[in-house]
Amino acid sequence: MRRGSIASLVGIGIVSGGIAAAVALALPWLPVSASKEAGRTDFEFWFVVTICIVIFSIVSAVMLYSVVRFRAAPDDDSDGPPIHGHTGLEITWTLIPTVLVTAIGITSAIVLSRNDASAKNALEVDVVAQQFTWTFRYPEANGLTSATLMLPRDRQTLLRFESKDVIHSFFVAEFRLTQDTVPGITTSLRVTPTRDGSYPVICHELCGLGHATMRSTAVVMEPAAFDKWLNGQSKAVTSGNPGTAGAAVFKNNGCAACHTLAAAAAKGTVGPDLDKLPAEAQQAGKPLADFIRTSITDPNAYIQPGYPRNVMPQTFGKALSKQQLDSLVSYLTSSSKGK
Ligand code: CUA
Repeated sequence: MRRGSIASLVGIGIVSGGIAAAVALALPWLPVSASKEAGRTDFEFWFVVTICIVIFSIVSAVMLYSVVRFRAAPDDDSDGPPIHGHTGLEITWTLIPTVLVTAIGITSAIVLSRNDASAKNALEVDVVAQQFTWTFRYPEANGLTSATLMLPRDRQTLLRFESKDVIHSFFVAEFRLTQDTVPGITTSLRVTPTRDGSYPVICHELCGLGHATMRSTAVVMEPAAFDKWLNGQSKAVTSGNPGTAGAAVFKNNGCAACHTLAAAAAKGTVGPDLDKLPAEAQQAGKPLADFIRTSITDPNAYIQPGYPRNVMPQTFGKALSKQQLDSLVSYLTSSSKGK
C-alpha cells in the first residue's frame, strides 16, 4: 500500500471517529445518575459506545476510501478481479469481534453481579404493582404504605416486587434500573441512591388502558430525614389516634391528587369534594362512615353525579391494611362533619 493511501485512510478514520465522538459526548443522552448502580451501568454503556466509535471510524474510513479510490470509470464494463478469500483477513475479522464481544460480556457480568450484591443493613421495601398504581410498603415501619417511594441516601434498599394483576415494569431512569413485576412470583432489585432529589418512577410495560398514567415518584433524602419520616409515619399508623393515622394514610396514598379536603389542605378536583361527604352520603341514602368505607373499597358502588366511573382506583380495599382503612374512614368522617 502506498504511503499516501495509508495517510488518507487514517485521516478519514480520525475525522469520522471525531464526529461520532462529538455526537456521543456533546449531547446530553442520559439523565443524571442518582445511584451507585447507575455509575456502573454508565461505565458499561460508555465502554460499548467507545468500541462502537472505533469500529465506526475504521469501517467508514475503508468504505469512503474504497468508494473514491476504486471507483470504476463510467464506460468500464469489465469484470472485477477474481479474488478467493484471504486467510489473514478472515482470522482478523473473526478474532477482533470475538475479543470485543467477550470483553463486553465479562464487564457486563461484573457490573450485574456488583449491582446485585447485598449490603448489610439494607432497607426493605415491598412494592405492589397493580393497574394502574404503585404502592410502597415498609415492613420495618409496621407495614406503613406510601404512594411515594421514599429512600434514604447512601444506604442500600432491597425492593421486592409483587403484581396483583398483569406484568408491569418498574423503571427509574436516574437509577438506571428496571425490573418486571410478574403475577405469582416475587422479583427484586437493589438500589443504593447517591443523590438527593425526586425522580419519576414509571411503568414501562404496556399493562392496559391506564399504562401511561402508572407513575409515581422516588424521593431520595438524607438518612436522618428519612429516619424521621419513617418514624413519624409509623407512629402515626399505630398511634391509635385516628386523626393522625388517617391523615398519614390520606397523604401517603395520593388522595390529595384527586380530592379536595380542607383538613389536609388538599385541593384536587378530579374526584368529588371530600368536604361535602355528609351531603353526598345523604344523597346516596347511607350512614356517613359506611358510605365513606364503601366509596374507598368499591368506588363504583355509588358515583357522585358529574363524575365518571372507573377513575378512582378500585384497589385501595386490598392495598390498605384494615387498620389503615379504619383510620382513614374515621379521619374523613370527622374532618368532613360540620362542613
Ligand atoms: Cu403497569 Cu404499564
